[in-house]
Amino acid sequence: MTGQTAPGRFITFEGGDGAGKSTQIRRLGSSLRERGRDVVETREPGGSPGAEAVRHVLLSGAAEAFGVRMEAVLFAAARNDHVEQLIRPAIRAGSIVLCDRFIDSTRVYQGATGNLEPAIVQTLERIAVNGVMPDLTLLLDLPVEVGLKRIKARSPEGPDRFERDDVKTHASRREAYLELAAREPDRIRIIAADRPEDEVFADVLTATKDLLDRDSAPPAKRRAGRRRR
Ligand code: TYD
Repeated sequence: MTGQTAPGRFITFEGGDGAGKSTQIRRLGSSLRERGRDVVETREPGGSPGAEAVRHVLLSGAAEAFGVRMEAVLFAAARNDHVEQLIRPAIRAGSIVLCDRFIDSTRVYQGATGNLEPAIVQTLERIAVNGVMPDLTLLLDLPVEVGLKRIKARSPEGPDRFERDDVKTHASRREAYLELAAREPDRIRIIAADRPEDEVFADVLTATKDLLDRDSAPPAKRRAGRRRR
């Protein structure tokens, strides 16, 4: 992979609840650090003090009664704070930012299954990210029943606001994620997550290596049109 002078990169992890994103982020973070890269591990909603303040309001369900538009605006406000306070500065400093959930979660949870109008999803997204888009998104995909079983096993305090939704909603989210991946195959890589952790990690590593190897390739081979940060 690349050395210290490699540019900063932004990798997001997406998928239904219980897909194992946080375990894979931890493992990828350690592996990249061993290779000499600076890594920032973060999550949404949250990741900066302002966004963490909003996180509890969203996940406790306190905003649910005010409707999906209210929730979406809060996710966007939290995301914008996170981008400006943590993600953009870290990428500029040459770090690899690994983020547990980002724009695709809003597209799926508030857009596809929350029925928020596409125009509002898009407008909020533009304001929230302000030009900072993921270089790579790893979609950890698994059957809904497997994810739900994992959630039940791991959270003694019970499911959060979104985990409480019915199986049909979880299944629609899976479909919506797969549709996003089909629409943006260059950015979103689908990884089957219903497998042993080591096998999933091998695929996570391969996808990451593909991205980072581009940084050490001659400029002509690098992906055209990398966005300005
Ligand atoms: P979290 O405890 O971080 O869950 P997970 O381990 O599954 O990532 O809770 C985040 C929840 O918030 C999750 O159910 C998805 C939801 N969410 C949205 O609905 N929209 C968003 O934009 C984001 C970032 C998360």
